[in-house]
Amino acid sequence: MAGRWVAAIWLAACLLLAPALVQARASPRVESLLARMTVEEKIGQLVQRPGGRQRSPNSRINDEERALVRAGQVGSYINVAGAEATRALQRIAVEESRLGIPLLFAMDVIHGYRTIFPVPLAMAASWDPAVPERAARIAATEASAAGLHWTFSPMVDVARDPRWGRIVEGAGEDPHLGAVMAAAQVRGYQGASLRAPDTIMATAKHFGAYGAATGGRDYGGAEIGPRALADIYLPPFYAAAREGAGAFMAAFNEIDGMPSHADPGLLRETLRTRWHWPGVLISDWNAVAELRAHGVAETDADAAALALASGVDIDMASGLYAGQLAARVRREPALMARLDEAVRRVLAIKERLGLFDDPYRRSDAARETAAMLTPEHRAAARAAAIRSIVLLKNDGALLPLAPSVRRVAVIGELAEDASSQLGSWRARGQIEDVRPLLPALREALPRTEIAYGSGANVPNAVAAARGAELVLLVLGEDFDRSGEARSLADIALPTGQQALAEAVLDTGRPVVVILMNGRPLAIDRLARRAPAILETWFLGIEAGPAIADILTGRAAPGGRLPVGFPRASGALPFAYNRLPSGRPADPDPARDTVRYRDLPVTPLFAFGHGLSYTDFAYSDLSLSRDSLSLTGGLAASVIVRNRGTRAGEEVVQLYAHDPVASVSRPIQELRGFRRIALAPGEAKRVTFILSAAQFAFWDNGWRIEPGEIRLMVGSSSADIRARAAFRLTEPGWAGQPPAALIERITEEPVR
Ligand code: BGC
Repeated sequence: MAGRWVAAIWLAACLLLAPALVQARASPRVESLLARMTVEEKIGQLVQRPGGRQRSPNSRINDEERALVRAGQVGSYINVAGAEATRALQRIAVEESRLGIPLLFAMDVIHGYRTIFPVPLAMAASWDPAVPERAARIAATEASAAGLHWTFSPMVDVARDPRWGRIVEGAGEDPHLGAVMAAAQVRGYQGASLRAPDTIMATAKHFGAYGAATGGRDYGGAEIGPRALADIYLPPFYAAAREGAGAFMAAFNEIDGMPSHADPGLLRETLRTRWHWPGVLISDWNAVAELRAHGVAETDADAAALALASGVDIDMASGLYAGQLAARVRREPALMARLDEAVRRVLAIKERLGLFDDPYRRSDAARETAAMLTPEHRAAARAAAIRSIVLLKNDGALLPLAPSVRRVAVIGELAEDASSQLGSWRARGQIEDVRPLLPALREALPRTEIAYGSGANVPNAVAAARGAELVLLVLGEDFDRSGEARSLADIALPTGQQALAEAVLDTGRPVVVILMNGRPLAIDRLARRAPAILETWFLGIEAGPAIADILTGRAAPGGRLPVGFPRASGALPFAYNRLPSGRPADPDPARDTVRYRDLPVTPLFAFGHGLSYTDFAYSDLSLSRDSLSLTGGLAASVIVRNRGTRAGEEVVQLYAHDPVASVSRPIQELRGFRRIALAPGEAKRVTFILSAAQFAFWDNGWRIEPGEIRLMVGSSSADIRARAAFRLTEPGWAGQPPAALIERITEEPVR
C-alpha cells in the first residue's frame, strides 16, 4: 500500500518538474552543432571571461579579447554591458567565429540594474513575494535592454549568523521564507519565457551551504551534517530549480570537508539525479583555481579536471578550463563525455534564450535609453521600500509623528548618506539617483523645523536634541560593512555610535532610532533605552521618501524580521527553528539548561517580529479535520481583526512542530505566511491548505512519519496567538523538501 503512495508522490513531484525535464533533451540544432565542434571550441563554450569590473564594464574588451571570441574560445562574459558594446562583441561571435555560436552576457544584477531597489534582505522583510518579484521583473527589463542575458541572482543562501557579511544578499534565516523569495525572484527575472527580450536568466547561488560558513567568516567551511543541509540550506535552491532557474552557481566553501566545486554528490547526484534540473552550473569567481588552495587538487590541470568531473559546467574567470582541459579530456574518455554534457547544457540555454534565432534581441539602443529609471520604476522602488521597513519598537505610540510636531532634530550621518542606500552590489545604480532621508524629510514636513547634526561632534548633537521636541537618531552601518568579505566578529554598533546614542538619550527628549544596516545588529542596551526603533536596512533610490512616508503615517509599517536580532555577538549563531534540547532553556538559575549565565538565551527581536500602528486580534483557529493522510489536504484557518483605529498590515504566520519523531525535530518551523491589509475594525479569515508532505524531514529521502503535528499561528515566532493539533495517519515519502512547498493560502472577509 505504502508503495503506491510513494509512487504517486514521486509522480506528482516529477510532474511539477515536467517543464524543466522537457528542456533537458537537447534539440537537433544543439546536437548538430556539438557534432561539428572541436575540443577547443567545446571548451570555449565553458569559458566565462571578465569584460571588466562591475563598476567599469567593457574595460577589458580589446583586440586580444576580440581575437579570442573570433577563435571560438569564449562562451560568455561577465561585465560586458550596454546595447552597443554587447552588439559589437556579439557580431564577432556570430559572424566571424567558425560556428557562429552567440555569446552570453552576464552581470551581478542583484537588487536592480539602474533602478536600485532595497537590498535583498530588506525585500525579504516585506514577507510579500510580490515585492522581490516586481523588483526582479524591473531589473530584468532594464538589464536586458542593455544587452544582458543573465544575472547572478538570486542569492538564496540561508544565513543564521549575521556576522556573515553576505547575509545582506539573501532572505535571512528561514528555509521556507527563503524558498518563497527564491521562487519569486526567478519568476521576476525570467518572466513567462526566457525567449522574451525583456527577460534575463536567473542564477540560484551559492550552492549548497555558503550561508553556513562557520563563525560567519566568509569563504569558511560549513560544519553541518546531511540533515541540516537538506532541511535548512537546500530548500530555497530546490524552489529555484522547480521554478525553472536557468543557472546555478556553486559555493566557494566546503561542506564537512568537501569543497562544493569538487562535490559530485551535491552538483550531480542532488541537483541532476534527484532534482532533474537541466540548467547550467557555473563556478564562482576563480573558484576552480581555488580547489588547489582547498587542498583537493595538486595542479591547475587537476583542479580543472576535478571541477568538470564534479559537475561545474562553466568556469568563471579562473582561465583553467581554457588553459588546462584540452589535454586532459583527450586522455580521459569519461571527462570527454562530461565535456559534451556541459557544452550541451550551455548551448541549450542559449537556445532557450532565443539567441540562435536573434542573437541581438536584447541589445537594443533605443530600448536601452527608454527603459532606465522610468517614473514607473521609481514608484515601484518606493513601494518596495515602504513594504520592507520593520517597526521594531514603538513605546507610547511615539510613531507616527504627531502632526503638531514643529521642531525635529535629525542626528546621524547616515541620514544624508546617499551611497549607502544602494547597498552592496549596485550594477549601474547611480548615487545621484538616490533620495536620502534628510532632504526627503524636509520635503515631507515643510512646516516643521528640522535641525541636523551628523553626530561627529557629540555636544552639537546634544544641543540639537535639546532644541527639538523629538529626535530622529539615525544609526547603523554604512553599506561597506556588509556584503562579500565583510564579516565581523562583533556586530555591535560601529565605534562612537553607542556613546552618541547615550548622550542623545540622556537629554530626555523622545528618541526614535532609525536603523540603517545590511545585517541584524546587537543593540541590546540601545533597545532597552530607546522608546521607538524603525529598521530600514538599505532601501535603494527611494529610501528617504519611503522612510518619511512611514514616519509621518502616510504609510503603515508592515515588514517583519527575516532573521532574528541577537542580544550580543557572542550569542551567535542563533536560529528560531532550533532543535529542542534534553534540557530546554529555563530561566530558573538553579537548573542546568541550554542557556547563557550572563544573558537571556532568547533573541532581542525574534524572527518574524514587526509592529504596526494598529493592533490585531486572532481568534477561531480551526482545522477542517483532525487527521491527514498522504494524499489529503487539511485547512487551517484563523480570523484576524484590526482592533485599532488605523489601517494596518499584519503578517499571519503559521508554524509547525512535530513533538515525537524518529529524530529530534525543530521546536517550530515556518510552514506558511500571508501579509494581509485590514482597515480599522475589519476582519479576515486566513486559510492555509496543508498537505502531509509539508511535515516531512530528511532521512535519506523526505520521510513522512505518522503522529501528532502541532500548529502555532501568530504574529511572530515569539508571539504565538493560537494553537491546534492534528495527526498524520500514514508513513510515506515526499518528493521534495517540505520547506520548499508553497502552500495554498486564501483570505476572505469576515463580518
Ligand atoms: C561572488 C558571486 C558573484 C561573483 C561574480 C563572487 O565573488 O561570490 O556571488 O556572482 O563574484 O561577481
